[in-house]
Amino acid sequence: MVKRIFVANWKMQLSFNQSCTFMQEHSHELKTLIQQDIFVICPSFPALHSLVTMCEGLPIAIGAQTVSRHPFGAYTGEVSALSLAEAGCSYCIIGHSESRQYAHESNINIEHKLKELIKHTIIPIICIGETKEQHEQNNTYAMLKEQLLGCLQLIATHSTEALNHYIIAYEPVWAVGSDITPPIPLLTKIFAWLHKECSTKTNIPFSLIYGGSVNATNAATFLAIKDVDGLLIGRASTDIESLKKIMEYARI
Ligand code: PGA
Repeated sequence: MVKRIFVANWKMQLSFNQSCTFMQEHSHELKTLIQQDIFVICPSFPALHSLVTMCEGLPIAIGAQTVSRHPFGAYTGEVSALSLAEAGCSYCIIGHSESRQYAHESNINIEHKLKELIKHTIIPIICIGETKEQHEQNNTYAMLKEQLLGCLQLIATHSTEALNHYIIAYEPVWAVGSDITPPIPLLTKIFAWLHKECSTKTNIPFSLIYGGSVNATNAATFLAIKDVDGLLIGRASTDIESLKKIMEYARI
């Protein structure tokens, strides 16, 4: 059976109580669906540690949605990679399009964050993707190259002892939160290109996942793409019935 990666990005959709209740009610039914997959839930910061505790002994990993680019210091409102590691986080999303848009996340910031995560052996989930305008102007590959370059160069300087896995999430910005399913031939080409980029530029094992309006109806189509190893799921990940259906497709 192919090992798939499912990342549930809860964004700011569930409160602390709602996150804990979701886990209390559904962790055991999720467990039966996970089997050999990697399944990561990324709640908002206050729920991280509680969810880590609740998932002990279950095949569910907990990830953060961002991290500070600084190791420690006077950075009000930020959370260090050290804190995330101490709280039991094993994954962290960086460069999400919403962070790039609302928190003015730059490529250089993302590289600093990546460095911090590697230092604390947190597996990075690096999000990349072009905007609607860039897509329409045929600038997709140029944008992806720009977003990937620094991260891949940094990764290439590490050994597998320092970093044993990284994840690239390709999320076309025009498909995130939109109900748009990008054409499959287009995704097939982009993922083949990503696979080549990552395998020629680094020697570290990596996984490529797709994100952007994944739901119970279209998940199987994305999972059938040759170089797609899994999914980053936003809205549908807080709806247990959709999430269960998406996980079931991994068995097909
Ligand atoms: P969506 O979000 O599934 O709601 O489009 C995906 C994401 O932003 O990671």
